[in-house]
Amino acid sequence: MSSEQQDCEKIVDTVFQVLIDGSKQGYIGEAISQLEHSLQAAAGGRQANADDETVLAALLHDIGQFATGAEQKQMLCDAAELSNPDGTSTGNTGEKLSVGVTGHERIGAEYLRRLGFSEKVAQLVESHVSVKRYLTGKDPEYYAGLSNASKLSLKYQGGPYNQEQIKEFEKDPLYELKIQVRRWDDSAKIVGWEVPDLESYRPMAMNHLLAQRKQQGVVA
Ligand SMILES: [Fe+2]
Repeated sequence: MSSEQQDCEKIVDTVFQVLIDGSKQGYIGEAISQLEHSLQAAAGGRQANADDETVLAALLHDIGQFATGAEQKQMLCDAAELSNPDGTSTGNTGEKLSVGVTGHERIGAEYLRRLGFSEKVAQLVESHVSVKRYLTGKDPEYYAGLSNASKLSLKYQGGPYNQEQIKEFEKDPLYELKIQVRRWDDSAKIVGWEVPDLESYRPMAMNHLLAQRKQQGVVA
């Protein structure tokens, strides 16, 4: 194995470990683990015959939730809000729960860029919150279909886009792909859906990282 391959293997090991360790934190408000969620999102991409970069983005879309220090700001809500995210008066229980890490999409994208993933992967990861804001602005039914935890985190994420923001978002050349990744993300919360395991993505991740290095002239 060349030193380039060894380097890429280490990066893949690190990223996979971050997903595995992160999953031990639990997935507040959802019935499956974070790792199962990531694997189901990637499986959605595979089923749709998406290209490798898009499948990897689906797999890694939430990595910013875990690739952070303990001091990272959490999106906190009261336990009572989780069962009633649209309620005006929720009768707080005093028990605080986190529905995610603030800015995790940007943290995840930057983390992946630094490790050598492509700009397309990073942008697709970075967009999964802006797509949520876009879709909730464009389609009220989309909001109604979100999980309670996802409705609550939307408040921290800036809320639904207005008409101007919607038009601006639709100019993005990756806009349709970004929406697809978000759809797989939304559908990736199914109890008992058996999908390929994390290791099955190793060859894809390795090929991607090696190709990126070659493109950037790191490998002769
Ligand atoms: Fe997600």
